[in-house]
Amino acid sequence: EGDKIDSESGGPEMPLACLTDFQAFARERLPKSTWDFIEGGADDSFTRDDNIAAFKRIRLRPRYLKNVVNVDTRTTIQGEEITAPICISPTGFHCLVWPDGEMSTARAAQAAGVCYITSTFATCALEDIAATAPRGLRWFQLYVHPDRQLSKQLVQRVESLGFRALVITVDVPKLGNRRHDIRNQLDLKLNLLLKDLHSPKERTSMPYFQMSPIDSSICWNDLSWLQSITRLPIILKGILTKEDAELAVKHNIHGIIVSNHGGRQLDDVLASIDALAEVVAAVKGKMEVYLDGGIRTGNDVLKALALGAKCVFLGRPILWGLAYKGEDGVKEVLNIIKNEFHTSMALTGCQSVAEINQDMIQFSRL
Ligand SMILES: Cc1cc2nc3c(=O)[nH]c(=O)nc-3n(C[C@H](O)[C@H](O)[C@H](O)COP(=O)(O)O)c2cc1C
Repeated sequence: EGDKIDSESGGPEMPLACLTDFQAFARERLPKSTWDFIEGGADDSFTRDDNIAAFKRIRLRPRYLKNVVNVDTRTTIQGEEITAPICISPTGFHCLVWPDGEMSTARAAQAAGVCYITSTFATCALEDIAATAPRGLRWFQLYVHPDRQLSKQLVQRVESLGFRALVITVDVPKLGNRRHDIRNQLDLKLNLLLKDLHSPKERTSMPYFQMSPIDSSICWNDLSWLQSITRLPIILKGILTKEDAELAVKHNIHGIIVSNHGGRQLDDVLASIDALAEVVAAVKGKMEVYLDGGIRTGNDVLKALALGAKCVFLGRPILWGLAYKGEDGVKEVLNIIKNEFHTSMALTGCQSVAEINQDMIQFSRL
């Protein structure tokens, strides 16, 4: 390790040039059980790996001799402008990776001008996350608690703190099998205070997620209850089929994040990029569709947009950036992939994200 890491600056000798460079750094730096927790997939991790491999089965079809002096990566999600269609997926426990955890992430997202979806399992208080980056665009990812009253309080708190959308994660009616965490006997409840889940004055009360934290009884019909307690747009994260996409339209949902939870829940489902076209076709333009899972390069972003995503989200790469240098590390990660995406647009002949379409890709025969 000694010859690879510059001990004075705490950083590596060579500049990091792509997102997987940050992955290699995080692997060296983090304790094994933390690394395994972040990197792990469910069961055989087939879907986790396929999320990445599936992007490599798609080829680009560039168009040349188009003026690309002014490439504009900006777009909007739920009506709000972001500097590029590359935002931050909800991941829990940022304080495992960097001391002030989610506060660093929030500042980096604000500086980059992208949306940060804060997880229910955040390890900083929501008030502190909001206060440290007051101008940042934030959505809140909710796991519905069996005690609906507690969930309602949390939703109202989130709304009053200026979060702009509620993201309901649908793919965790129970936790997937994470073999490494079993082998490492990882116990996040013991390691971390889930500070986030009560307002500051209530912190001594029973942790929100003690016992059975996630309500596995939640159904489509319960969405109207959520809609009745908030004015925020509701986005479903984890939809993978046209059947569920059609139900989302029927239930007046505002957006879908096509996702398989980074391959951490049900293994052997489609790679998220392979499920995207089906969902996009099913919603028929009635809501925005986003994607997460396996986004590692600017070309991946371009491919997802070509298949109909309005925006993509990054999970693990943000944690690698945090592990590297906290706020600055996340800024670097976002900066690198935004620059890559700018290059992808220029080299395929796109001045604006609206020009990215299906003709720009082709599935390769393996
Ligand atoms: C360490 C870790 C924690 C996560 N925690 C949450 C969470 O609290 N809520 C949630 O909806 N998704 C969670 N996810 C899933 C991510 O939101 C996202 O779907 C996934 O990481 C995207 O894939 P990628 O890591 O390949 O970018 C987590 C993922 C990781 C790696």
